[in-house]
Amino acid sequence: MLPAIAILLTCLLCALLYVSLFRRTRRPDEPPLDRGFIPWLGHALEFGKDAAKFLSQMKEKHGDIFTVQVAGRFITVLLDPNSYDAVVWESQSRLDFGKYAKVLMERMFDVNLPNYDMTAEKAVLKIHLQNTNLPSLTKSMFYNLNNILGDKMSSAAEWKAEGLFDFTYNVMLRAGYLTLFGSESDQSNSHRNTADIQHSEEVYKEFRKLDCLLMKAARNMLSAEQKKDSSSAKSRLWKLLDSEKLKRKATKSGWIESYQRHLEDAQVTPDMQSKAMVLQLWATQGNAGPAAFWMLLFLLKHPKAMTSVQEELEKVFKSNGRTIKRMEDVSQEILDSTIVFDSVLNESLRLTAAPFITREVLLDMSLKLADGREYRLRNGDRLCLFPYVSPQMDPEIHQQPQKFQYDRFLNVDGSGKKDFYKNGKKVKHPSMPWGAGSNVCTGRFHAVNSIKLFVFLLFFYFEFEFNNPKDNMPQFDRSRYGFGVLHPDSDIVFRYRKRF
Ligand code: HEM
Repeated sequence: MLPAIAILLTCLLCALLYVSLFRRTRRPDEPPLDRGFIPWLGHALEFGKDAAKFLSQMKEKHGDIFTVQVAGRFITVLLDPNSYDAVVWESQSRLDFGKYAKVLMERMFDVNLPNYDMTAEKAVLKIHLQNTNLPSLTKSMFYNLNNILGDKMSSAAEWKAEGLFDFTYNVMLRAGYLTLFGSESDQSNSHRNTADIQHSEEVYKEFRKLDCLLMKAARNMLSAEQKKDSSSAKSRLWKLLDSEKLKRKATKSGWIESYQRHLEDAQVTPDMQSKAMVLQLWATQGNAGPAAFWMLLFLLKHPKAMTSVQEELEKVFKSNGRTIKRMEDVSQEILDSTIVFDSVLNESLRLTAAPFITREVLLDMSLKLADGREYRLRNGDRLCLFPYVSPQMDPEIHQQPQKFQYDRFLNVDGSGKKDFYKNGKKVKHPSMPWGAGSNVCTGRFHAVNSIKLFVFLLFFYFEFEFNNPKDNMPQFDRSRYGFGVLHPDSDIVFRYRKRF
């Protein structure tokens, strides 16, 4: 017994000696350093448990730039929105986007693409989600939403209760998936396509099983049982999204055709191609459903916002010589003329979009902030922006930032509000749900159009309300800070029935 205690004590002493001799200390031109109390682990537990709370506390303590130790890594966190441009426009050879993304791709989706050029992939895919390619995506999304909502309508002659999050995520993911990855129908007729309805439901079911485990997978914290569940959901998704099957779809987006060609040119094996498809399913469909959910939830909880949005829609449709009661398609002109809707969506995203913008520091370099301060960053560290804490929740930029104000993004004359100030100075990025700079979300125009079409069609097809109007707003699932639009920690029941 005694020798064992002696060995343990010696090891402990050696570890303490090692930590005190070699532990990192702050150099004068570096951001404040906070290693936490636990050697090596540092702040990993607080960071993983509730990143928003932890980083807000660090901001109180150190200001808008600091370095924290997290599980052996040193992460410099920058929380000054006026200085974000210095990071998001910096060259890939200094602040790299791909390195950390590749680690996560492997941990979460088993995707490993050695010698794969992500910059080339982005350049190839970008054009397919924007500009001249947008109208065909919008048309296809409209068709697929109609198909899926039409199917929901067939069983909603009487009031039907469902979880609002599950309903919204289900419809948005399935329609978004069919639009990008392809569908069995040629979309030229209005008949319900049962093959697409069934297949997309299967995709959604498996996707949700995986989605619930992804945060733990990203942190390497899956239990043996969860690893098994995650593997089986992934295997089923790989089959459902088999790259050969996708090639045989009747209607495909330019995006998927181009992505498949790109993977083939890079000689990626068919198995790895299917894995990459599942990764893309998450990257393209993981945010729009939750964003639509929060928007609907805020509308249902705030009757004035709901009435303003509905009145605006009636007005916009009327001035385009149409009525919301007869909706065959929706033009980009209509989609672009809903200023109140835009404000509600921006406000919902301000409150719920919480991605980390992460870069690997590839060489010792200096970072100049907007107010002239300059800090050295060390090669091998990670740099992280968290726009959720600032600007989005910054009380000096947005008064009562926790509160939903549907007209926060409206000027008094009714136009869209873009200018926000901090200490009398205009803020460059008052809200950053889509990221910014060279890695800004390329799907944002399609995402906004999709959310709008979904909400318009919901108004068109259904009456809907809370099952119990007294139900409280759900809290956030705090484990999802850093990974895009947040999820609720529990669902909230609503009921719907068809209008006609
Ligand atoms: C409300 C919905 C969405 C939100 C809030 C959102 C947010 C974001 C954010 C924050 C990034 C940047 C990540 C970073 O810099 O680290 C991003 C990137 C990206 N998003 Fe989205 N996104 C949404 C929907 C979509 C949709 C529907 C698509 C595709 C159809 C899409 C495609 C992409 C792509 C391809 C990138 C990578 C861009 C690049 O690195 O060049 N997103 N998104």
